[in-house]
Amino acid sequence: MTHHLIEKLRQRRAASHAGGGEERVQAHRARGRNTAYERLEILLDSGSFHEVDAFVEHRSTNFGIDKQRYPGDSVVTGWGKINGRLVYVYSQDFTVLGGSLSEVHAAKILKIMEMAMKTGAPMIGLNDSGGARIQEGVESLAGYAEIFLHNTMASGVIPQISVIMGPCAGGAVYSPALTDFVIMVKDTSYMFITGPNVVKQVLNEDVNAESLGGATVHATRSGVCHLVGEDETQALMLVRELLNYLPQNNMEDAPVQPASDDPLRADVALDEIVPDNPNKPYDIKEVINRIVDDGQFFEIQENYAPNIVVGFARLGGNSVGIIANQPMVLAGVLDIHASEKAARFIRTCDAFNVPLITFVDVPGYMPGTEQEHNGIIRSGAKLLYAYCEATVPKLTVTTRKAYGGAYCVMSSKHIRADLNLAWPTAEIAVMGPEGAVEIINRREIAEAADPVARKNELVAEYRAKFAHPYIAAARGFVDDIIEPRETRARLINALQVFQNKRDENPPRKHGNIPL
Ligand code: HXC
Repeated sequence: MTHHLIEKLRQRRAASHAGGGEERVQAHRARGRNTAYERLEILLDSGSFHEVDAFVEHRSTNFGIDKQRYPGDSVVTGWGKINGRLVYVYSQDFTVLGGSLSEVHAAKILKIMEMAMKTGAPMIGLNDSGGARIQEGVESLAGYAEIFLHNTMASGVIPQISVIMGPCAGGAVYSPALTDFVIMVKDTSYMFITGPNVVKQVLNEDVNAESLGGATVHATRSGVCHLVGEDETQALMLVRELLNYLPQNNMEDAPVQPASDDPLRADVALDEIVPDNPNKPYDIKEVINRIVDDGQFFEIQENYAPNIVVGFARLGGNSVGIIANQPMVLAGVLDIHASEKAARFIRTCDAFNVPLITFVDVPGYMPGTEQEHNGIIRSGAKLLYAYCEATVPKLTVTTRKAYGGAYCVMSSKHIRADLNLAWPTAEIAVMGPEGAVEIINRREIAEAADPVARKNELVAEYRAKFAHPYIAAARGFVDDIIEPRETRARLINALQVFQNKRDENPPRKHGNIPL
């Protein structure tokens, strides 16, 4: 090959790496952002990135856009490795026409999504885009629609992770919304259907990007975002950490990491963790940390519906998904947001063969007009549905309250949990003592000489009779009552016992989860 041809290739490749030109790249950096290539360098194992379609250019001539052709267009695509495992990636380049999605930009993403599906490897999208390329019109909309279709077809087959790295608008937020996990960067990333300018035009509402769709909003209020990085590097490190808990695809198991933590380790502090007073809270995260390998719990959606805690950990080296009521927040009650958060997490784990460990301390579903009118019945049913349909190993530990419908929902024996353990502090009954005596002894309390004293007596009687795990255990609804300190060893043993369990759902097109 003649030298000048190689030189030409190098020049072309350099042009592709130059994005939208030095000025735009500098402006981009000035906003605290890395370029599309730099982000891939941070995300992937060193030197593992292989690019495809670096020379693709858009074909549109509308609105003089043919004067703005950049090799590679506004996205970098290819594959690489994370902790030695294959992943496919795209990284949108905001310096090229605002990272907007042209027909060819979409085609590049679709090409690697198809490769990811064929080879069964995770798909990671680094999003930084103003949405559909306005100059291309319906062609870019067609591109988005095809990406949405591919996201949906890949759902539950390969893990899909979206990182939001800049202002993402329009179609740029719907593809991430279809994926399994959305990670945002604090202060520099936004997600909205339309930006603040359009909001002002349409609704005459003044709002800035941060309050409309910043990381804090989506991590605490909308529930769109699962994890937040303090900066771009931390957000990309979260992807690497998250992937450690997931398999490459739905036909594989998550990687096992040999544990240095003794599987038989007993933690005596657990024996004292549940307070004597049943209305006094304790931190369920301390319980989780004391049980899992090396105290490492990777929490998901930490600040959204914190009355339920979900996340990944390892037990005996195996990846597990943890769902736990949090007595510290709203007494661990199940409300709309908590139900939806947990239901989504359960379905993610079930799709990717990650066993479920449930810690139960729940007073019930949240009553009241606000919850009823907003659909707690429908949302609560999502959680029930998710637990019922899940066929991965399901292990349940009731630490304290398991009352009423919430008892049924939270991975009870009756909905195919494989092993149900209770601590001696467990209270398993149809209602809490106060509520129960007010219904069944209402007349007697009202007619008593001292109603308060009589009610207290009746509550104490009810508590002694029902607020313990022995009735459930006598019926076999609880498999064993254990000393809290034994929990880790019992769960690790059960994971081994049930790892090859077979549960099946009936053949059907798909179930109809109450969305
Ligand atoms: C073409 C675009 C673009 C777009 C931005 N640019 N968005 N070009 N199509 N969608 C260009 C700008 O013209 C500008 O070019 C450069 O990118 C940087 O944009 P700025 O506006 O200067 O950046 P910033 O102030 O950071 O604002 C970013 C932004 C804003 C919030 C994303 O650009 C914006 O609101 N864009 C439009 C978002 C939108 O409404 N998209 C919806 C498209 S419809 P120059 O040459 O000046 O550097 C859609 C529907 C899909 O997506 C269907 C879903 C179901």
